[in-house]
Amino acid sequence: MGHQTRATFGSKLSAVLVAAGGAVGLGNIWRFPYVAGENGGGAFLAIYILCAVIMGLPIMLAEFVIGRSSHSNAFGAFRHHSNLWKYMGFNCILTSFLIMGFYCVVAGWTIEYTVHSVASGIARSTLADEHAAYFSAFISNPWRPVLYTAAAMLLTHTVIALGVRKGIERCSRMLMPVLLIMLVVLAVRSLMMPGGFEGLRFFLYPDFSKVSARTLLVAIGQVFFSLSVGLGSMITYASYFKSDTDLRTTAVNVTVIDTLVAVLAGLVIFPAVFSVGIEPSAGSSLVFITLPSIFATMPLSTVWSTLFFLLLAVAALTSVISLHEVITACIHEEWHIRRRTAAWITTLSITVLGTAASLSLGLLDGWRIFGLTIFDALDFVTANILLPVSGMFSALFAGWVIKRTTFVDELTGRSMKYSRQAEVVRILLRYVCPIMLSLIFLDNLGLLNWL
Ligand code: PHE
Repeated sequence: MGHQTRATFGSKLSAVLVAAGGAVGLGNIWRFPYVAGENGGGAFLAIYILCAVIMGLPIMLAEFVIGRSSHSNAFGAFRHHSNLWKYMGFNCILTSFLIMGFYCVVAGWTIEYTVHSVASGIARSTLADEHAAYFSAFISNPWRPVLYTAAAMLLTHTVIALGVRKGIERCSRMLMPVLLIMLVVLAVRSLMMPGGFEGLRFFLYPDFSKVSARTLLVAIGQVFFSLSVGLGSMITYASYFKSDTDLRTTAVNVTVIDTLVAVLAGLVIFPAVFSVGIEPSAGSSLVFITLPSIFATMPLSTVWSTLFFLLLAVAALTSVISLHEVITACIHEEWHIRRRTAAWITTLSITVLGTAASLSLGLLDGWRIFGLTIFDALDFVTANILLPVSGMFSALFAGWVIKRTTFVDELTGRSMKYSRQAEVVRILLRYVCPIMLSLIFLDNLGLLNWL
């Protein structure tokens, strides 16, 4: 299997930063605030944290065990433990491919907004309508968003081609701390805006009257997407962990960092949104349309908007890198193709898919799959079908297929002291997670609408 020659991440800190870089992305900074805004603010936050602990964390641990115990790409990792389950690897590759198809488009938008901020001061106008017009003209343009999608893929490719140590590790070590610092600075600035306190209250005060059974399911889905579990991304990264990397502390740290970034993003967005009187449930347009008008009301607006979109681009890019690596590692190791060639195959095929997804918001609007544009169909199928299914299988696989001793040893580093913790995680994986994930799935199919 040749795992002696396989790359590993240098230090324990690198393992945490690399995995956190994969997890932290548009899901935290763009999706979390608006989903929280639509689902009761503070109450959603409380439920989200609970779901992250009882479901997100155990599944991340499961993926770490699957990856590190096999020292292999996602496909090889399942095959390592069971020949029958190797087909799960296909699901991982497919899901990563399809998610990247629309994710790289949005990553491209964040780069455009960064460039636009520097070049022509995106944040000059306070009128949200003007920003809405700019946004829709941009995303439906036949070539500009396509170029930015390609730019996002080329940047990703450069990091991947540099390899595991020099590329992925160095990039994450450098970018993750910058990201956290930028978010804290922006949160402080946002909280100082007049009326910002109202936003803070909305975000942190739990009003449970707005909570329904569906809120729980929305929260589980968001935890899942945000922690990047269910598609082999954490399996692949864990395969590069050293044998003495403590999986428990790594997973806890990644979960805490990911949740912290989401909360910080809420602290940036809600006070500002309330301060300028915009609806917190404005949805997916929140970042691209309303934030520029918020920045315009601030002194040094160009600096703030550039900083924010750069931050978003960084977060998106480290996530695209983690998705890219799932496919590149598979092609490289399974087909015995040189890593660089494998990376090119991935980059080019994703760029083609991304181009189609981007054009589907303008030129190819007529091409519909079950009534959805290619962009929306990719988003829908991955988030609502493929992720819950493969997450459930990861939990079942780690809970039922991997030998108990392998699981416990891998998780505890063969220390008896932690074996009870490992047993608790195993119970969560065998029973709690599959049941909860089945509920998400049924809900997504519309079978729980009576709740
Ligand atoms: N977790 C990333 C985010 O929050 C998205 C992602 C999902 C990345 C799955 C990799 C794998 O944006």
